[in-house]
Amino acid sequence: MFNIFKKKLVNNEEHIELDMNNIPKHIAIIMDGNGRWAKKKNLPRTMGHKAGVEAIRSIVKECNRIGVKYLTLYAFSTENWKRPKEEIDTLMKLLIQYLKNEFNELHENGVVINHIGDIKKLPVPCQEELKSAYERTKNNQGVVMNLALNYGGRDEIMDAINKLIKDIKSNKTSTNTIDEKLFESYLYTKGMPDPDLIIRPSGEQRISNFLLWQCAYSEFWYSDIYWPDFNVYHLHKAIIDYQKRDRRFGGIK
Ligand code: FPP
Repeated sequence: MFNIFKKKLVNNEEHIELDMNNIPKHIAIIMDGNGRWAKKKNLPRTMGHKAGVEAIRSIVKECNRIGVKYLTLYAFSTENWKRPKEEIDTLMKLLIQYLKNEFNELHENGVVINHIGDIKKLPVPCQEELKSAYERTKNNQGVVMNLALNYGGRDEIMDAINKLIKDIKSNKTSTNTIDEKLFESYLYTKGMPDPDLIIRPSGEQRISNFLLWQCAYSEFWYSDIYWPDFNVYHLHKAIIDYQKRDRRFGGIK
């Protein structure tokens, strides 16, 4: 019965099948390894980031095609400000170029270009481009692409607590008990399901302050491949591995 919905992907001699009945609703990716990819090729780090932007295109398109509802991409963390100014400037420029160059195709494909994180600290042109991209695509019906920018899981939780305190003090929220549902409505990911699958390429196996609240029951998938080399084949591999996992959410079968 289920095979009817299975999609076949052929890569070299390997045949892998995606169960279209069990596509993760929310995939989150830590796009790691740009610098090492560049180093391996004797290129400047900035070229690695440029190649990293290129890698995004096919992944968004494929997530949209197979019916992933949310795709969260970790593009700049609250800790990335520690990097040299030149690298930060390049990343900000790449962000603007990405939004300008890819906008039409993303919009035509029905992608919602959303952002999460405290973007007030980004250069003003980045903020404007992000807000405009969101305004123009917010009613689209395809995958919601969350660009995580100046994002940190701890910051997000602290922000949520502070906003909640403010709302309680000003009687906007009247409650004696704070439950998970109320708290989640103060997070950047308000209204979104938690990530089912978190992918981290580049050989590192840590969470790096990414979606700390939301990853409570996420499935993790790691690979040694550097982000610029990550393609649809690896995405399918990650999803197929995810589909083999037995998710019990702390319960029993
Ligand atoms: C990690 O690689 C990557 C980042 C800190 C930035 C990710 C950014 C992009 C893919 C491009 C910008 C995104 C958009 C949406 C325009 P790293 O530099 O830490 O690599 P390394 O660990 O090998 O040094």
